[in-house]
Amino acid sequence: MASGSGTNLQALIDEGVGDLRVVVSDKGSCRALERARAADIPTVVVPYQGDRDRFTTEICDAAESYGAKALVLAGFMRVLGSEAMKRFPDRILNIHPSLLPAFPGVNAVAQALRAGVKVSGVTVHLVDEQIDHGPIVAQRAVPVLPSDNEASLHARIQKEEHDLYPKVVRAMAEGRLSVEDGRVIWT
Ligand code: GRF
Repeated sequence: MASGSGTNLQALIDEGVGDLRVVVSDKGSCRALERARAADIPTVVVPYQGDRDRFTTEICDAAESYGAKALVLAGFMRVLGSEAMKRFPDRILNIHPSLLPAFPGVNAVAQALRAGVKVSGVTVHLVDEQIDHGPIVAQRAVPVLPSDNEASLHARIQKEEHDLYPKVVRAMAEGRLSVEDGRVIWT
């Protein structure tokens, strides 16, 4: 599921992870959809029309109609309602460009720069009903350099994202991720 440039989607495609059934976007036109089409992956557009519950139902229906067993959010800029967690329990992943729980929400990279942290990074987590929140699956730290601006730091973080996300998605597809007491266990 993607709303933007889709470089994480591209990493998943290039690494051949899992079985990418369909790419769902809330945007009628975005680079992620073009990448899906170029890789012969079906696409579905579900515009957000102000009703989160209805939007969530449509997203879940679209994913299930293609046989999806998990949802992988890769730059998907909408919040899903609780129905999604019920229909895909512990089966929704998100990637976020900070070391959560620091800097959730939009502009995470700018938030980190503004705070003056010397280390930031990337987090992959299971999605719950709060924004950029839920059991953490994997993290990678990235140094913040004195010369960094938002673009340079985001580029360094994205390099790690593109390496990390395929590994996590593959682990989920192979049934190697489980949750115990709210923590993710890798086997
Ligand atoms: C990534 O930095 C991801 O962490 C955040 O949105 C960005 C998506 O980038 N959730 P892309 O669309 O995969 O290029």
